Amino acid sequence: MKVVSVVGARPQFVKAAAVSRRLRDAHDERLVHTGQHYDPELSAVFFDELALPEPAYHLGVGSAPHATQTAEMMTALEGVVEDESPDVVLVYGDTNSTLAGALVAAKSSATLAHVEAGLRSHDRSMPEEVNRRLTDHAADLLFAPGPDAKRTLEREGITEGVSVPGDVMYDTLLAIRDRLETLGGDEPSVPDEYVLATVHRAKNTDDPDRLEAIVDGLTRLERPVVFPAHPRTVDALHDYGLWERLTAAVRVVDPVGYARFIGLVEGATCVATDSGGVQKEAFYLDTPCVTLRDRTEWTATVDAGWNDLVGANADRIVDAVRAAENPPAKPDLYGNGNAAARIVTTLERHVDDG
Ligand code: UD1
Ligand code: UDP
Repeated sequence: MKVVSVVGARPQFVKAAAVSRRLRDAHDERLVHTGQHYDPELSAVFFDELALPEPAYHLGVGSAPHATQTAEMMTALEGVVEDESPDVVLVYGDTNSTLAGALVAAKSSATLAHVEAGLRSHDRSMPEEVNRRLTDHAADLLFAPGPDAKRTLEREGITEGVSVPGDVMYDTLLAIRDRLETLGGDEPSVPDEYVLATVHRAKNTDDPDRLEAIVDGLTRLERPVVFPAHPRTVDALHDYGLWERLTAAVRVVDPVGYARFIGLVEGATCVATDSGGVQKEAFYLDTPCVTLRDRTEWTATVDAGWNDLVGANADRIVDAVRAAENPPAKPDLYGNGNAAARIVTTLERHVDDG
């Protein structure tokens, strides 16, 4: 079986690591890096730590407005898919790299497979919601992380090709957990008790009022905050004159490698984030999460009492972080950490059946 896997942004390196390891055992995988993320701390560090192979193709697309970025990726990907004639094109999650891969594959003879299918925040002002909906509706094989996502697809009329292998991010997390001490390093050093914050979603970084409310909330927390900041957030903080408003209690650092980040999630009293992946990682690592968004696609973590959705509202951020504690019971929401093996088995069967 020949598979072209399309990745480009930080969370996709984490997701692909689990599946790629399995695929390479028995099949021919060509990894394509679109170049959406190019700074070493958003890209190369993950290839090193997660032992991802050197991409067979690096498209070098880089940052651009949505249509330009997606179109440039598609143009380059079309050539790759034509040259390689893969059985399967595999895309992950909900970024512009996902959508570009999906649109190219859907009009080729390859099977389009989507990992992390069926998630919906129902907030179409977030570009990720557009990307994930369109990708699901173009896909032949849809890998849902949990039963809710499968039901969502059914409601949208998608019943063929859907399976529920679990969450590949859980696979990656379990694989690295035992190696945290050796791989994770100890920079940045952190106090005994801290809140870990990440903010990068366009809805927050491109809206000065929302970003100001988040800064206001973070600076009023009772515990110090460790804040590995995405470059677009650092730019926005400077552009909106909010950088000066950060107090010494909020320690902004460069994005950190995966192992260190997972160690920081595990050690935090609470996580405050607008990330998709970090909401789940907090759940897996028993750290309560406060989500800096109005809506989430990871609704089961909220329903289970592990995730408090507070939007960009300073008072609600302060109250939620103060109140955050672990609920007594933790359900299994997204499988047991063998999603990658199940995905590869499903792909093999599909290709064998012709
Ligand atoms: C993208 C995804 C988002 C995902 C995130 C993971 C889309 C629409 N968004 O958001 O779903 O949560 O990746 O982190 O696909 N930049 C750098 N260095 C880089 C890459 C980007 O400085 O290596 C800066 C540039 O100023 C760029 C901005 O970040 O314009 C936004 O980058 P982009 O890839 O468009 O979106 P992300 O915010 O990273
Ligand atoms: N992550 C990391 N270092 C950081 C911040 C995040 O390694 O400084 C990892 C995190 O563990 C998760 C992934 O990046 O696996 C999430 O990416 P991000 O929040 O950028 O994207 P999203 O999940 O929101 O699409």
